[in-house]
Amino acid sequence: MSDLTDRIPSMAAAQQVSITDANGAYQKPDHLDFSWAPPLYERDINTGRRLRIVCVGAGFSGLCAAVHFQDHLANYELQIYERADDVGGVWHQNRYPGIACDVPSHSYQLSFCEKTDWSAYYAPGAEIHGYLSTVAERYGLRKFIKLQHTVTNARWDEERGKWFVTVSSGGVSFEDECDFVLFATGLLSKPIWPDNIPGRESFSGTMVHTGDWRAAGLPDDPEFWADKRVGVIGMGASGVQIVPTLQKKAQSVTNFGRSKLWISGGWGSKMFEKLHKHKKEHGTNYFFTEEDIAGFRSDEAYRKFRCQIEEDLGSTHELSFRGHPLQDIFATKFTETMKHKVARKPEVADALLPDFPVGCRRLSPGPGYLEALCEDNCSLVTDKIEAFTPAGIRTADGTEHELDIIICATGFDVTLIPAFPIIGRGGVNIQELWARESRTYLGMFSPEMPNAFNVLTTQAAAQSGSLLVVLEQQCSYITKVISKCQRDGYASFAPKQQAVDDFLKYTDAYFGRTVLTTNCKSWYKNGEAGEATIRAIWPGSGSHAYVAFQNPRWEDFDWDRLKEQEHTMSWLGNGCAAYLDGADVHLAMRGFYRPETHYIY
Ligand SMILES: Cc1cc2nc3c(=O)[nH]c(=O)nc-3n(C[C@H](O)[C@H](O)[C@H](O)COP(=O)(O)OP(=O)(O)OC[C@H]3O[C@@H](n4cnc5c(N)ncnc54)[C@H](O)[C@@H]3O)c2cc1C
Ligand SMILES: NC(=O)c1ccc[n+]([C@@H]2O[C@H](COP(=O)([O-])OP(=O)(O)OC[C@H]3O[C@@H](n4cnc5c(N)ncnc54)[C@H](OP(=O)(O)O)[C@@H]3O)[C@@H](O)[C@H]2O)c1
Repeated sequence: MSDLTDRIPSMAAAQQVSITDANGAYQKPDHLDFSWAPPLYERDINTGRRLRIVCVGAGFSGLCAAVHFQDHLANYELQIYERADDVGGVWHQNRYPGIACDVPSHSYQLSFCEKTDWSAYYAPGAEIHGYLSTVAERYGLRKFIKLQHTVTNARWDEERGKWFVTVSSGGVSFEDECDFVLFATGLLSKPIWPDNIPGRESFSGTMVHTGDWRAAGLPDDPEFWADKRVGVIGMGASGVQIVPTLQKKAQSVTNFGRSKLWISGGWGSKMFEKLHKHKKEHGTNYFFTEEDIAGFRSDEAYRKFRCQIEEDLGSTHELSFRGHPLQDIFATKFTETMKHKVARKPEVADALLPDFPVGCRRLSPGPGYLEALCEDNCSLVTDKIEAFTPAGIRTADGTEHELDIIICATGFDVTLIPAFPIIGRGGVNIQELWARESRTYLGMFSPEMPNAFNVLTTQAAAQSGSLLVVLEQQCSYITKVISKCQRDGYASFAPKQQAVDDFLKYTDAYFGRTVLTTNCKSWYKNGEAGEATIRAIWPGSGSHAYVAFQNPRWEDFDWDRLKEQEHTMSWLGNGCAAYLDGADVHLAMRGFYRPETHYIY
């Protein structure tokens, strides 16, 4: 096989004339008059304009997007602002005792950064936070991130085709101008206190929210809890993790709950059972042995394991359809197991068993939760909380529950309203617009927000399958959009209004078929009950989202040209391709020439 340069003799000649700069980009020789004449546009076809991207948030979403940009974009600047003092998002903020992944760890990680030595099937939160720190280090992302920088405002300037992002840090505010902005601010990142309960300030003990755990400064020492009477308000995913953990450590745990909930088996339970095949007692987690971990070092074994888990996670999708036979099967199974687990305190089953279908609100795997409620030092109180008092909590039946620590596992603001003003096209404040309803195309794009992306915020989380697969697909989609703007000479893009309207029609029709719109209260419906519209999660399975995001439908967007590239063919540039006519032929042709076939098709 001859050398590549022999096949392209013109390249050697081009190099001698030296019309390229050190980076291989075309340079106009001084003695030639190449004055601008549309449609010729003075740039190489594959050298896009320089872009600045601002990303708000450095959780899974912000970090994943940064890696995608690094791998697939050129000629760009990236700035990530993170209000917390470390990366990791929810895994940095939620440090309550017992926090763990409730999907199997091997499916809760990014495809390009595989960790094969997870300590447990459901990894503890601190380990997931450690994983995210590793992602930041391994991909050199720290240089893009400014910690303890809070974005307080974002404003689109139509005339200039730019976003102006106001950032506050250490009492100083400044503005950052950019071409694109990513809101990777998290759907579950604004802890919500039980403000409807009076007297919060009067409580003389410590009150803490699960979603802002470190703010209370409680020590990590497990002994700290030994003499504490703890109240836990809430029995969502956080509450059901914290109750069994503290029941084993604290003097007493009182769980105040006003909800009904289906306690399901753990997600990915098929593999869980398989891992425990030699044991009589399952416990609530599986801790990988050194032998297991050594086995995962083989790519094949690891991937097979992960694929089996993902298959299992996706297999219950049809459970969400109204009238599906799986509904009865699961309702019967969960009722039996719940009753069995609380046999010592049958009143707990009476209090918890829902009258709404399985899957209407997020299922709670709740390993060990029901068992903990049956222990002598643990109780479930379902009477309405009337007030916080200096000594603890008073319920509607007049009982004063004396407590040393009150943990509010009361969830997050899931209204989807941005936490800071976002002033979009035509001066529209998205906070006001979305107070009525968040209306996006595919959960990521909004006509009022040109050149902006919502990552894993609205209409993103899937009811089945791995969330991170959906996230990665969103990041890939967004990267393709930015790349298209850069390559094809577009100043801005936004989804067509029709595309948004039609997507939401589809969304409503889809959820209308499911039990998600039946008679429960759920954060999927922004904390509402009944037939409320669903704007928080993806209208389909995780695999459905994966396929939907694979190929962007460019026809669903409006594209505005750059002023200097008004001609429809200006994207063709000046007839040169940066690397081909320059020094680095290998870079441009690498994907085309293959020694064995000459070309690929
Ligand atoms: C306790 C808990 C456990 C969970 N467990 C699971 C699980 O087991 N499996 C699963 O699939 N999902 C789980 N989730 C869902 C979880 O939200 C997602 O899986 C994922 O971590 C979200 O990542 P994110 O980057 O989109 O958002 P986040 O992790 O919320 O990150 C958003 C980041 O944006 C920053 N930010 C927000 N506003 C601003 C601002 N104005 N300026 C600067 N920075 C800002 C925040 O500080 C935060 O760091 C869990 C959620 C919670 C709360
Ligand atoms: N490892 C995990 O996977 C994990 C762990 C934690 C969280 N998460 C994610 O985070 C989401 C939120 O979980 P979460 O448990 O933090 O919140 P949540 O599911 O919204 O649960 C909040 C709980 O607090 C109760 N509550 C709220 N305000 C109250 C008030 N004023 N008075 C009394 N009770 C009140 C709610 O009752 P009502 O239901 O009646 O409103 C509910 O029981 C989960 O759905 C999940 O997606 C995941």
